[in-house]
Amino acid sequence: GLSACGSNDSGTTSTGAQVVDKGTLTVCSDVPYPPFEDFDKSSDTGFTGFDIDIMSEIAKRLDLDLKVQDSAFDPLQNGSALASGQCDVAASAMTITPDREKVIDFSDGYYASKQSLLVPSDSDIASIDDLSGKKVGVQQGTTGKTYAEENAPDAELVSFPSDAEMYQAIKAGQVDALLQDLPVNLDHTKDGQFKIVETYDTDEEYGFGIKKGNTQLVEDINGALKDMHDDGTYDTIYNKYFKV
Ligand code: ARG
Repeated sequence: GLSACGSNDSGTTSTGAQVVDKGTLTVCSDVPYPPFEDFDKSSDTGFTGFDIDIMSEIAKRLDLDLKVQDSAFDPLQNGSALASGQCDVAASAMTITPDREKVIDFSDGYYASKQSLLVPSDSDIASIDDLSGKKVGVQQGTTGKTYAEENAPDAELVSFPSDAEMYQAIKAGQVDALLQDLPVNLDHTKDGQFKIVETYDTDEEYGFGIKKGNTQLVEDINGALKDMHDDGTYDTIYNKYFKV
């Protein structure tokens, strides 16, 4: 349509995939979650990170504009944000799990991850067995929270809506440890205040979440991802964020 602000202008892509806003790929992400998603005033979308760069390249290849919306994580992982048409894709370092697959369609996996335990650098906590009676920060709706529930039954879990709030809480000494995805905890060790004492091989694979039944969009995204692997674009973006 002619209206500049086409929020009712829903439509389809050239391949026939449904999108909530014609000509645009609307992506929800729980920000900040570096290195996967973070705010960046200097970038076109207002956001940066591995997920954002991958999605921006996918949008380009599908001939769509990219719009990124900050969102809480829980409505992304439980399918409600996609079902209600708030966004086309959840790009949020989201692990593909059997429970989520009941309510969300996932792209092919695009990143392999693990869990980890973060503590202050001067902490005596050396492993998950030392958490009895300790306050452990976890993020609502995450695989890290589930891992802590199953493997640290004597810990006092404190659930936060976002990773940013967990990180604030450990800085303020309100919790003794954080259980979260390894790459994100690793990012939190950068200033030397915190250390990772243990990692857990949970064999997690991140996927992009798509509204259940929008199989054409899943296919389009998988096609773009495959091409990016074949032509080296995926590696270039990977090395930008994870180069060792
Ligand atoms: N990978 C974990 C999960 O899927 C945590 C993801 C949290 N993502 C975020 N952007 N806050 O449960």
